[in-house]
Amino acid sequence: MCGIFAYVGGRKDAISLVRDGLKQLEYRGYDSWGIAYPKNEIALLKEVGHIPDKILEEPSSLALGHTRWATHGGVTRLNAHPHLSSNKKIAVAHNGIIENFEQVVSKYDLDMKTKTDSEVIPLLIEYFLEQSYSFEESVRRSLQELEGTFAIVAISSAHKELIVARLGSPLIIGETKDGFFVSSDIPALLGHTKKVLVLNDGEMAILSGSLELKNFYENVSLDPSFIEIDWDVSTAEKSGYKHFMLKEIMEQPKTILDTLQGRIKDHQPLLPELEGINPKRIIIIACGTSWHAGIVGEFLLEGLAKIPVEVEYASEFRYRDPLVEKDTLVVAISQSGETADTLAALREAKKKGAKVLSICNVMESTIARESDIVLYTRAGPEMGVASTKAFITQLTLLYLITAHYASKNKTLSVRQVQDMCDDVLSLPRYIEQVLDEKGQIEEIAKEYFESRNALFLGRGIHYPIALEGALKLKEISYIHAEGYPAAEMKHGPIALIDVNMPSIFIATRDTHTYEKVLSNMQEVRARGGKIIALATSGDRRVTELADHIISLPRTRYALSPFLVTIPLQLFAYYIADLRDCNIDKPRNLAKSVTVE
Ligand code: G6P
Repeated sequence: MCGIFAYVGGRKDAISLVRDGLKQLEYRGYDSWGIAYPKNEIALLKEVGHIPDKILEEPSSLALGHTRWATHGGVTRLNAHPHLSSNKKIAVAHNGIIENFEQVVSKYDLDMKTKTDSEVIPLLIEYFLEQSYSFEESVRRSLQELEGTFAIVAISSAHKELIVARLGSPLIIGETKDGFFVSSDIPALLGHTKKVLVLNDGEMAILSGSLELKNFYENVSLDPSFIEIDWDVSTAEKSGYKHFMLKEIMEQPKTILDTLQGRIKDHQPLLPELEGINPKRIIIIACGTSWHAGIVGEFLLEGLAKIPVEVEYASEFRYRDPLVEKDTLVVAISQSGETADTLAALREAKKKGAKVLSICNVMESTIARESDIVLYTRAGPEMGVASTKAFITQLTLLYLITAHYASKNKTLSVRQVQDMCDDVLSLPRYIEQVLDEKGQIEEIAKEYFESRNALFLGRGIHYPIALEGALKLKEISYIHAEGYPAAEMKHGPIALIDVNMPSIFIATRDTHTYEKVLSNMQEVRARGGKIIALATSGDRRVTELADHIISLPRTRYALSPFLVTIPLQLFAYYIADLRDCNIDKPRNLAKSVTVE
């Protein structure tokens, strides 16, 4: 969603630095952009649509920029950030929502020109400046008036400072020898520095030649604690691939190994973070793709570690007053660690006394920081909006957590747990084999890229992967796709089947529902439907029923969801590419959904 990028320091190319930074944030999703920098008044560049490749070159050592994903007010140039004060001497970019903006407008009698909630901030700062407060104090007083969530950056044409603050929306400061960068996320900073300070809620920083950190409620100075990020800048670049999504699909064998690094020892899972946590029940909360990973987790944890598991949409969990008993572990899964619904559900769970374990990809993200225990997926920055490698690493951690509890609860023998650990270490090799066959998937895509609908069907542990396959296709190709447990097809979707509607079946031999899936395939075939089947290599029975076969290496039950995921990601990718879609930045979607 919205992104902020800003620079202050010794360099004179602040405007193009900020433009480049905003480009890096594009993957989060946006519909308009803007940049502000000080002149006599504030100079402003802003437009609806994409950030241009070339931008006005004017020397400046201070600039702030914003990419907007509209919430309050339509997609117009006027509503694009940064917003200005009435005298055009203050500029502010804001992420989040100011919930009490109407009250603030009437309390201070502010003259709003846009339809956004954000404009209230520069107007309020101007109000306090007119009361003869310093710029810093005016910003601080303004922040105290605001309710809701925000990450803000503010500049004034009369001061050489960049003032930034956070309450609920992420904001990161990067330090270099030439000055400070500010960004909504870490990947956009990697080209400049790996030394970052993640602002906490209630903190503001005054940046010029130096940095001063404060709590804006109490006005007390704080010691900044910078951390070193170990992500590599190349992971945030396309490295010759046409799209980030394809690059990230291809990276999956490596990301699985990164996730496993140091977490298996002597053929046993090594998760010291879980010591002393012995849940009687687990509730998994997540959204989107992470929610699908959660359902795979349910099959693994219940089936192998024998712990009762429920998986909930975070947005629903929060509002239904759920029962959370002592000994319930709540597991929040979130790639970004910033999804507003998951964060709110996590807070609700903690309020009810649950311990929260989070599975996150982004270090120091809000969800990670507010959890009792964090397991990082270590997928590296995921730039494609459609999640691929982050999903596979979420599955990897859920698999390891299962092995941990299966060992602890003795629901599997030492030998079986050892097999689980050995198997997952060989998984990247199998995935390489599937990736090597991507040309075959591209050929199948050529036959179906003009379809208007598609059905994804699988049973048991493959059912969440069917949901994920459908989500991938609809997200990036805009083809209407539904995922169903294969048997449920008879209760509705079967009415849609005809020669124009492909059904993608997950029909590998590694689950006990294999025979049942074959029956479901017969039902589609009997109605003239086209079938693309994911089958275990050499399976003649599936070959006879399907129009197209995607062969997969034979594997064990618990690893099967990993393998079947890969062709579905590739299928969605090639279809979207053939349709000439904006694969890495699909319309209307955002990578990090920071509003409820
Ligand atoms: C958005 C993204 C999805 C993601 C979902 C949950 O909708 O486009 O790719 O699965 O949010 O995000 P999270 O960061 O919490 O995993």
